[in-house]
Amino acid sequence: MYYIGVLSGEHNKIPLAELEAVIGTVSNDYSVMEKKNKTVFFRAGDIDFSRLAYTKEVSEMVKKFSIDSIPDLKDIDIDGSFAVRPYIIEGDCVDKRELAAKIGEKLGGKNNYVDLEEPENVFRAFVTENKVFLSRKVFENDGESFEERRSHLRPFSSPVSLHPKLARCLVNLSGVKNGNFLLDPFCGTGGILIEAGMIGVKVKGIDKDPKMVKGCIRNLEHFEIKEKEIIEGDAFEKMLTIGDADVIVTDLPYGRASKKNLGMEEMVKNIIENGKKIGTDRIVFMVNKEELCGLKPDFKYFVHRSLDRYIYILNPQNL
Ligand SMILES: C[S@@+](CC[C@H](N)C(=O)[O-])C[C@H]1O[C@@H](n2cnc3c(N)ncnc32)[C@H](O)[C@@H]1O
Repeated sequence: MYYIGVLSGEHNKIPLAELEAVIGTVSNDYSVMEKKNKTVFFRAGDIDFSRLAYTKEVSEMVKKFSIDSIPDLKDIDIDGSFAVRPYIIEGDCVDKRELAAKIGEKLGGKNNYVDLEEPENVFRAFVTENKVFLSRKVFENDGESFEERRSHLRPFSSPVSLHPKLARCLVNLSGVKNGNFLLDPFCGTGGILIEAGMIGVKVKGIDKDPKMVKGCIRNLEHFEIKEKEIIEGDAFEKMLTIGDADVIVTDLPYGRASKKNLGMEEMVKNIIENGKKIGTDRIVFMVNKEELCGLKPDFKYFVHRSLDRYIYILNPQNL
């Protein structure tokens, strides 16, 4: 199937990388054909787009035509009400209202009617260089559910927890599949585990602080995440006892949370070595270092004025 996605403008590289990682979870047979401004044209299998954090919407491509000669579109199946909403990728002299009306006229048939307020079917008319890519919207991300899960709104909270949207993105960057095991060896309040559990991933967590372990379990129960195993202890000792994990996703401890730990380089080496032993394909972590163990980060993430964090994506079996 061919799709057009609209990426969030919150970062210049992460949204596309997240989308690519998610479409790769279904099959290796996919391709990103073109990226223009915030839109991405891609081919992929049947995807659960609702797991994405930094993609605003996805539409399935239906027909391509010239803006100057709109064909008859009655063969497109529409059940119930519909609306056409143009999205101008390039070019600014298109009258969106006029274009929507012209396409709507060609689409309308016996079994459907236009409803601009609450349509059952939304068609996007993506316009670039005189061409229209008519597409049916299959996913829209209003971001609200991420906001509802912010740390202070959960039963147990701590300011160290990442924003749920970023936590979900880290999970997605690992390419973890539904039903796989994800381990967060420094799970804290469970911010990463909640986001993984919500997309059908089985979660495992370790934290040395008993308060965090109790709070993490409480949070996971609140979000009805059933497939979970959370244990108390030092990550470096317990990683091998918690069993296999397809991916490791974590926010490494820093500041007070890292007291009495190995240095950052040692921590990363230890996670890589343990990851190899427990069959981990991908390790995604966030840290405040621009270089570690001779490795460079994949992304820089601006948290606020004085705080940049770096995202590393490693394949431990190749290191
Ligand atoms: C940055 S916080 C993780 C926050 C987490 N992502 C969340 O959503 O709450 C790091 C956590 O690592 C834990 N920690 C620090 N050193 C540890 C170690 N050696 N083994 C296990 N947990 C450790 C701390 O107790 C803290 O909860």
